[in-house]
Amino acid sequence: MAPLWPLHGANLGTLARTCDATGACLTVPRFPWVPEALARGNTLRKPPCVHWTGDPVGWLERERARGTRVVGVELADEAIRLAELPPARERTVIVLGHEQQGIPPEALDLLDVCVEIPMVGTGASLNVAVAGSLVLYKLAGLL
Ligand SMILES: C[S@@+](CC[C@H](N)C(=O)[O-])C[C@H]1O[C@@H](n2cnc3c(N)ncnc32)[C@H](O)[C@@H]1O
Repeated sequence: MAPLWPLHGANLGTLARTCDATGACLTVPRFPWVPEALARGNTLRKPPCVHWTGDPVGWLERERARGTRVVGVELADEAIRLAELPPARERTVIVLGHEQQGIPPEALDLLDVCVEIPMVGTGASLNVAVAGSLVLYKLAGLL
């Protein structure tokens, strides 16, 4: 799971716990505040599996080059619905958007598929950690 442009530290703690629960790793940018946010949100018995990148778009490009499937989580015209997303059968990265701006355009170009979670309420979007957790559980085949 890759929240590559995080804004709120609390979401990283939540995502780390979902990664632990599903056997996934978390990839985060080397922002100065991220280590403390992860430490504060760590309620696990063991430290979570965390990878670090100083170059989120370059990291995504390298993952694609090694054959990783890149799944974006975003409300987008070309997105498939969560119910249509089958469990992952190959190495997969889940890309999450910035809490205010979403996934940046240069990263949208690197997605193999974009998935959206249908909403029927009055809100414009879900919390990013909720959205990422739902998609991760679906890809893990645990829902
Ligand atoms: C709060 S939303 C961003 C909203 C932003 N104002 C926008 O319009 O892009 C933060 C991130 O959560 C994820 N997200 C939230 N709701 C979603 C939904 N219903 N379907 C798919 N992704 C969602 C996306 O990764 C999104 O970039």
